[in-house]
Amino acid sequence: MENLSPNPLPPKTDLDSFQAQLQRYQSRIEEALLQRLPAASQEPKILHEAMRYGILGGGKRIRAVLVYATGEALGVPIEQLDAQACAVEFIHGYSLIHDDLPAMDNDELRRGKATCHIKFGESLALLAGDSLHSLAFETLAQDPAIRVRPQRRMDMVAKLTHTAGSKGMAGGQAIDLAAVGKMLNLAQLKQMHSLKTGALIQAAVALGALSADPVETSVAKDLDNYAHCIGLAFQIQDDILDVEGDTHILGKNSGSDVAQSKPTYPALLGLEGAKRAAQESLDSALASLEALGDNAKFLRNIANYVTQRSY
Ligand code: IPE
Ligand code: IPE
Ligand code: MG
Ligand code: MG
Ligand code: MG
Repeated sequence: MENLSPNPLPPKTDLDSFQAQLQRYQSRIEEALLQRLPAASQEPKILHEAMRYGILGGGKRIRAVLVYATGEALGVPIEQLDAQACAVEFIHGYSLIHDDLPAMDNDELRRGKATCHIKFGESLALLAGDSLHSLAFETLAQDPAIRVRPQRRMDMVAKLTHTAGSKGMAGGQAIDLAAVGKMLNLAQLKQMHSLKTGALIQAAVALGALSADPVETSVAKDLDNYAHCIGLAFQIQDDILDVEGDTHILGKNSGSDVAQSKPTYPALLGLEGAKRAAQESLDSALASLEALGDNAKFLRNIANYVTQRSY
């Protein structure tokens, strides 16, 4: 069989330091989210409970990690990145709650627990998603941890609003729903994945970069291209895991795409073809970081992680 992993694994010490850094970011975002979510004791309690249920207690936090890693690579103190990381996770959490609804993917398991609508009912799941969407923008617009000029803050809001909307994630989800039972060609599939999943991953990197002193145009472009490529690789790997992943490890039901005749990379290209496509996207992501040198080491490791993850 063709070797699908031309990038050699980093030495163990590098992997250890990658894991340590990943955990540092993951613990940090848990705390930052806790601080910003409405208390479950606050009225309307049931809605706040549903929001907390959708966000807390699970999730790899890759988008938050990308905000932190990009910001830190560009010299931003980590405490100035918490709010942007939360905003991105709030949008992601909302998108998952709505994605699982019967009107969309009709899934009952998420992050190893019952999906929000199974636990709280469909109407509350809709409202919890709506409220998290609003909380994301309230956080970006007002959170005092963000220490940039007002114009920069507006740029962040503009980036995330565009990303969540019809020309970004929601647009990608609409293409996904319209394509059920149909065969998309590769260009259409790539576009759908880049919008429904890639756009928010790109926004995470962009928000990290917008938190720093202005970077050279070429650096901003390289980072954006990196994010575009890992965003696509991330969703291709999600499609692959839906075929060969284990429900217990994934925390969501594998086989869901096939059961619903979703257009996916494995459905179009076969598993090996999908793995090759993920590898190509990973290679392009790594090539985009070449000019960034040592500062981008963690971002390189994240790119590898995205395509090698098992959940
Ligand atoms: C799942 O995203 C949905 C996709 C966009 C593929 P993640 O795999 O990042 O989900 P969590 O946050 O870790 O649960
Ligand atoms: C989810 O894609 C994309 C968004 C939530 C925007 P999927 O439908 O493939 O994600 P999973 O597999 O349910 O996590
Ligand atoms: Mg979906
Ligand atoms: Mg889904
Ligand atoms: Mg999926």
